[in-house]
Amino acid sequence: MKALRYILPLIVLVAIMSGCGKEPDDDDGTKNDRGWVYNPQAYTVEIPRNFPPATFPASNPLTTQGVQLGRMLFYDPILSGDSTLACAGCHKQENAFSDNRILSLGIDGLQGKRHAMPLFNLVYSSRFFWDGRATDLAEQALIPVEDPLEMHAYWPENIIKLQAHKDYPKFFYEAFGVEPEDITKEHAGKALAQFMFTLVSGRSKFDEAVTGFGELTDQERRGLELFISQDGADCFHCHGTPNGNQVFQELSPSLQFRNNGLDSFATAVEYVDKGLGEATGIVTDFGKFKVPSLRNLAFTAPYMHDGRFATLEEVVDFYSTGVHQTANIDAGGMEFAFQGGVQLTPQEKLDLIAFLMTLTDNEFVTDPRFSDPFK
Ligand code: HEC
Ligand code: HEC
Repeated sequence: MKALRYILPLIVLVAIMSGCGKEPDDDDGTKNDRGWVYNPQAYTVEIPRNFPPATFPASNPLTTQGVQLGRMLFYDPILSGDSTLACAGCHKQENAFSDNRILSLGIDGLQGKRHAMPLFNLVYSSRFFWDGRATDLAEQALIPVEDPLEMHAYWPENIIKLQAHKDYPKFFYEAFGVEPEDITKEHAGKALAQFMFTLVSGRSKFDEAVTGFGELTDQERRGLELFISQDGADCFHCHGTPNGNQVFQELSPSLQFRNNGLDSFATAVEYVDKGLGEATGIVTDFGKFKVPSLRNLAFTAPYMHDGRFATLEEVVDFYSTGVHQTANIDAGGMEFAFQGGVQLTPQEKLDLIAFLMTLTDNEFVTDPRFSDPFK
C-alpha cells in the first residue's frame, strides 16, 4: 500500500512529461547524460509559386533546431572579438539584411572596402560576396567572423565562448547531436547558413501580379517594358527577364559576374577593387562584380559594391548617360556605352523606377521569423 502511494504519482508524472514531449522514448531521439535531446525536425522553406524549384545542400539539411540556432548566432554579438557586433549589425532586417552605410564598419571602427550585401533568396546563389570568392554558404558564414575589418574574432576563442555559454551547448546538441567538447566552427557555419537559407523574399507587388493576384499600374508596366527591351533601358541582359516562372537573374542558377561601366580605366590592372579578379586572379575578371538582385531596393540604399549611389535616381541617371567605356566592360550587356548609356527621357526614368519599386517585399522586412530572437 505504501509503495503504491509513490508509484502512482510517478506514473502520472511520466505521463504528463511524455505528453509534453519532454521525455521522448528512444524512437523520438537521442538523449545524452545531461538530459538534452537530439531529435531534429525537418524545416521546410516555403518557396513562392513563381520561383524555380530550390535545391538546398544535402550536406546541411535544414531543421527547426538548426535554423533557430543559426538565427540566434546571427543576432548575437558573441561571435565578434569584443562581443559588440553581430552579423545583424551590418545585415539589418529593416534594410532587407543590408545596411544603409556606404561602406561597412567593423568592430575596430575600421571601414571595409565594400557595401554590405542584402541577404535573401541565397539558395539560388552559388557564389557569395561581390567577388564570388565563397561557394558554400556554410563556409562563407565563417569568413566575416575573422575578418579584421568586420568582427575581428578568432574561431577557436569563439568556440570556447560558446562552450562556456549557459544555453548554446544545449542548442548545439539539439541541432547537431554534438557534445559541448565536440562543437566546431563548422557547426556554427552550418547553423548560420540554415537560418540564411530561410530568408526568402517573394511577396512583392510584382510577384502578386505575375501570379495573378494583382495588377501593375500603367506606369509600372511601362517601366517593366523599358526594363526588358533592348531599345528601352536594356536592363535584362544582366539582371534577367521575368519570363515564365524564371524571375530575374538572382533566381537563375548561372550566377553572373559583370562590369557595368562604373569607372573609367584604360587597362584592367588599374581597378583598385578587382572584384571577381581578386578571387580568380584572371586579368579578364578584374573589375567584374556579382550582378545583384533588384528586389527590395527600397530598403537597400546606397547602391553598388562601393555604395557610390545614394538613390535610385542616381543609379538610373548613371545607366542613362553616365556609363564609361572601361576595361573589361560587358560589351554585350552595355552595348550603349559608346554613347554613355541608354539615354532615357525624364518620364522614362520615373517609369523605370516605378517598376523597380514593385519588387519591394514589405512583409520580408517585418517577418517575425527573421527578427531578433533576443527581443
Ligand atoms: C562589418 C559589417 C559586416 C558584418 C559584421 C557581417 N557582414 Fe556579411 N557582408 C558584409 C559586406 C561588406 C559584404 C560584402 C563583402 C565582400 O563582397 O567582400 C557581406 C557579404 C555577406 C554575404 C554574401 C551575400 C551574397 O549575396 O553573396 C553573406 C551571406 C554574409 N555577408 C553573411 C554574414 C554573416 C553570416 C555574418 C556574421 C557571421 C556577417 N555577414 C557579418 C558586411 C558584414
Ligand atoms: C552589363 C550588365 C548590366 C546591365 C545591362 C545593367 N546592370 Fe545593373 N548591375 C550590374 C552589375 C554588375 C551591378 C553591380 C556593379 C557593382 O557594384 O560594381 C549592377 C548593379 C545595379 C544596381 C545596384 C543594386 C545594389 O544592390 O547595389 C541597380 C539598382 C541596377 N544595377 C539597376 C539596373 C538597371 C535599372 C538597369 C537598366 C537600366 C541595369 N541595372 C542594367 C550589371 C548590369
